Amino acid sequence: MRLAIVSDIHSNIEALEAVLADIESLGCERIYCLGDIIDYGPNPREVLDIAIERFDMTILGNHEEALMLVAEDFNERAMRSVEWTREQLNDPAMPREQRQKYWNYLDELSKKRHHQQGDLLFVHGSPRKPTHEYVFPKDSLDQAKIRGMFAKFDRFCFCGHSHIPGIYSETGKYGHPKNFPSGELDLRRFRKLLVNIGSVGQPRDHDTRACYVVLDNSKLMFRRVEYDYEKTISKILAIPKLPTFLAERLKLGK
Ligand SMILES: [Fe+2]
Repeated sequence: MRLAIVSDIHSNIEALEAVLADIESLGCERIYCLGDIIDYGPNPREVLDIAIERFDMTILGNHEEALMLVAEDFNERAMRSVEWTREQLNDPAMPREQRQKYWNYLDELSKKRHHQQGDLLFVHGSPRKPTHEYVFPKDSLDQAKIRGMFAKFDRFCFCGHSHIPGIYSETGKYGHPKNFPSGELDLRRFRKLLVNIGSVGQPRDHDTRACYVVLDNSKLMFRRVEYDYEKTISKILAIPKLPTFLAERLKLGK
């Protein structure tokens, strides 16, 4: 089966539509999402509509958690974005059924923090703290953290949250996908592996292109997709409640 795995879309409809077109061109049969569908970007409703219709499995991200339950570690600027997103989903100009559709979906999502399927584990943050812990390249040097995380899964774990794609081995090695030949990897080469799939809507590895992965049996492909980030930027700048740095960082990919 060809499985597309996306994460951290952050209400960026331009990035999501470009990624969906790429997913379709590759003939993926299913789409899994590792959370942070919304917040930061200008199109939470449109992105949620697609998530509800197209994603076969979705995990709670810390931004959905902030909206539904508690905003852990959110600063004042981040809270402004959460509040604006909440207003969009509560907009009284929308039919009541549409508002209910969004909140019912988010309510269901708030119960799901990980997904295990055979020897694959899917989380938003990390295998030991599925919603909140970040996995960064520098963590490959932290043996205690690597040991702690690898103790929590059997073979392969997929995560998002840090918005920085790459693979982590249990011996403490990190690899960015640009260093793999043609961006592909055979998982059979590894006894265990932690894979950060990067971010669709707000990449932070100095590459502006949307990032996601395709898993085709044992073959893992990191995909980068160009999208019209200038359009997303101008929409963010037109919304006074969204901090301008959320627009600026799309142009820098960081
Ligand atoms: Fe995120």
